[in-house]
Amino acid sequence: MSRLMNRILLIGATGNIGRQVVTQLMPTQAQVRALVRNPEAAQLPRQIELMQGDLTRPDTLDACLAGIDTVFLVWTAPAAAVEGALERIAKHAQRIVFLSAPLKTPHPFFQQPNPSRALAEEIERRIETSGLEWTLLRPGMFALDARHFWGPQIRAGDVVRWPYLAAPTAPIDEHDIAAVAVRTLSEDGHAGMEYVLTGPQSLSQYEQIATIGYVIGRPLRIEEITPDEARHVGLAGMPAPVVNKLLDAWAAAIGQPAFVTSTVQELTGRHARTFQEWVAANLSAFRA
Ligand SMILES: NC(=O)c1ccc[n+]([C@@H]2O[C@H](COP(=O)([O-])OP(=O)(O)OC[C@H]3O[C@@H](n4cnc5c(N)ncnc54)[C@H](OP(=O)(O)O)[C@@H]3O)[C@@H](O)[C@H]2O)c1
Repeated sequence: MSRLMNRILLIGATGNIGRQVVTQLMPTQAQVRALVRNPEAAQLPRQIELMQGDLTRPDTLDACLAGIDTVFLVWTAPAAAVEGALERIAKHAQRIVFLSAPLKTPHPFFQQPNPSRALAEEIERRIETSGLEWTLLRPGMFALDARHFWGPQIRAGDVVRWPYLAAPTAPIDEHDIAAVAVRTLSEDGHAGMEYVLTGPQSLSQYEQIATIGYVIGRPLRIEEITPDEARHVGLAGMPAPVVNKLLDAWAAAIGQPAFVTSTVQELTGRHARTFQEWVAANLSAFRA
């Protein structure tokens, strides 16, 4: 059932998921506005109304939220800004769709304590007590992380050195996360729902790297390094807290398949894209 006169504010429209949501919302009847920090650099389609705003400056949010029914929220801003931003959102909007993570899924990969998990839990707590009608999207590991994890080594040569190669995940294509987001933003019936979204297959990190080699037509030499070596040399230029978070999650994941859901298929009517399909659509990330 589609929503008539649904006015949507996208927060995070210039990011990985937000850009996909914009593309897939374009053909719908929704009126879409994007809150962006820098309109000149946003590079969003002309049909989207842009308004300058910043989650860390609550006084900028009222104008962006005026006349809005539904907010799509991606949060990568500092934790200190959560309270002020959510107060403003709750004052203006009726509904919120929040891009969270599988915080409640009883699989060890999703149950390791870390700061980004604590932040998402705090945002959820505030959303659930805000009076807003809410929907939580809980995607697992993004397929696009492969670009950051392995892209630099594969572009530079045929050797990939990585920790916990046996750790499985079920990488999800950003297109599928956005497809579910668009359904929840444009239809009734998603209030109070929490959708755990994954790719269609459990694949070890070794299998994911080998898949990239297969699709780009270059056999890769895949070598295991220890977690200490990963901490010591750094991992794909990621900051230490992110590296530690990932190492803990992969360590916990070893020994059982990744958690896989069929929610993308159920909500969109289309099969969730495989990791191989994601690589084929993102070849430039792995070619020199
Ligand atoms: N990677 C994973 O495997 C994974 C898995 C599950 C869940 N998640 C969650 O997914 C989210 C990240 O999604 P993403 O990859 O689409 O993020 P992203 O590409 O980093 O984009 C972040 C967006 O937020 C905007 N933004 C940042 N600070 C802002 C501020 N102060 N005010 C207004 N806008 C601001 C950015 O705008 P600018 O253009 O101004 O920078 C950008 O549009 C995180 O919450 C993460 O926890 C990730």
